[in-house]
Amino acid sequence: MAYENSPIIIDETPGIKNYCTCGESNNKPYCDGSHSSKATGKTPKELIVDEARRFAICDCGKTENSPMCDGTHSKA
Ligand code: FES
Repeated sequence: MAYENSPIIIDETPGIKNYCTCGESNNKPYCDGSHSSKATGKTPKELIVDEARRFAICDCGKTENSPMCDGTHSKA
């Protein structure tokens, strides 16, 4: 899978977002449907964003707080 070892920092806008959890999207941090076409067994994580703010979205696939980065990528 195409996971990275760091989060994606994004200045998010309000709305309903679907974040990629499989690492295969070509439109990270958002889901582009690749989880299905590549049969990853993963599904996107929906989040309702109430107000504009900066997020660190997990791109290592190991967070315990999906879709947010929880620092797991940097732990040994
Ligand atoms: S493309 Fe990764 S969860 Fe949909």
